[in-house]
Amino acid sequence: MEPNSGQAASESFRAQALIYKHALNYGTSFCLSFAIQLGIPDVIHRHAQPMTLPELVSALQLSPEKTIPLRRVMALLVHSGFFSVNFNKEQKEEYSLTPSSRLLLRGELSSLSPFVQVLVHPVLSNPWRFLGDWFRGCKEQTVFETAHGVGLWDYGGKDPGFNGLFNEGMASDSRMMRLVVGDCKEIFEGVNSLVDVGGGTGNVAKIILQAFPHIKCTVFDLPHVVSGQPEDTNLSYVGGDLFESIPPADAILFKHVMHNWSDEECLKILKKCRESIAKKKDAGKVIIIDMVVDMQGDDADITETKLLFDILMMVLTTGRERNEREWEKMFLEAGFTSYKITPIFGLRSIIEAFP
Ligand SMILES: C[S@@+](CC[C@H](N)C(=O)[O-])C[C@H]1O[C@@H](n2cnc3c(N)ncnc32)[C@H](O)[C@@H]1O
Repeated sequence: MEPNSGQAASESFRAQALIYKHALNYGTSFCLSFAIQLGIPDVIHRHAQPMTLPELVSALQLSPEKTIPLRRVMALLVHSGFFSVNFNKEQKEEYSLTPSSRLLLRGELSSLSPFVQVLVHPVLSNPWRFLGDWFRGCKEQTVFETAHGVGLWDYGGKDPGFNGLFNEGMASDSRMMRLVVGDCKEIFEGVNSLVDVGGGTGNVAKIILQAFPHIKCTVFDLPHVVSGQPEDTNLSYVGGDLFESIPPADAILFKHVMHNWSDEECLKILKKCRESIAKKKDAGKVIIIDMVVDMQGDDADITETKLLFDILMMVLTTGRERNEREWEKMFLEAGFTSYKITPIFGLRSIIEAFP
């Protein structure tokens, strides 16, 4: 036997565990999605106190023989931080919500359930299987096209059901912005008109209007996304293609949009923004809400999430997540003179670019 072989074997087994953990991580995604589908967070919330397994089974209207399978699913979700568990006097588990499962409650303004459900939807998750084909030289521009034969944005135009789910997923993510927009007075100071480019069904614009009602907001997106959206005082919708023209405004906002496009495409978009800003007399700015990858500054979980989003962008679009240096390079190449990054939305930052 080789010296240290016990140590080498234990290292190999730890390595095996890491491999299996990541190869099976989709299990967490599907259990999370299943918990939302079943309404587990809602049932625990309605119960208003920690809930035992039999109470959970009964409230979910499951057959009693599903008690042990449910306990196994709950064990994984407790381990992943979605629920907490205590043991009562009879040593029975009692489940409570955590901050993450509170964000999954149906009907709550801040519910992220539609975002989770769209991420695990087969239309978005199947293309991951085509990553290898795409790397080996498929002619299609994106992995999504390799899988579906059309790009993500055209797919939405062809499948109204999926388009609705996608827009609702994005809207649910956007609604969280209401937690901080009111604190962004400096960013919206002097802004009298704003175009939210790729603004979906207008949730960000509505949140901005609640905090700053004087701003004239235009939501600009593809025609199939904005058609039929009800307009309101200072809120209007315009359908179009951001590569053709962007309506003029003091501030041009992109939330969760720039990361959908390659550097070359972002350069074109930023140049279009400069033209639109120039049409207004007072100097305007571009406001981007997106991730800034910071491997040194962020903690490991945040970095992992940002890296996963980066690959998600590679699978779904031509885009990517960027670090500060990469954002700066694009702004300077597009003719902007300065920029400011305010890390305010957890994973995302507000990035202002000034002409
Ligand atoms: C990731 S979603 C972000 C939606 C919204 N800003 C949010 O954060 O909730 C990207 C948006 O860009 C829109 N989009 C894609 N291509 C576009 C184009 N060529 N012109 C205008 N909008 C486009 C999509 O329809 C979609 O609503």
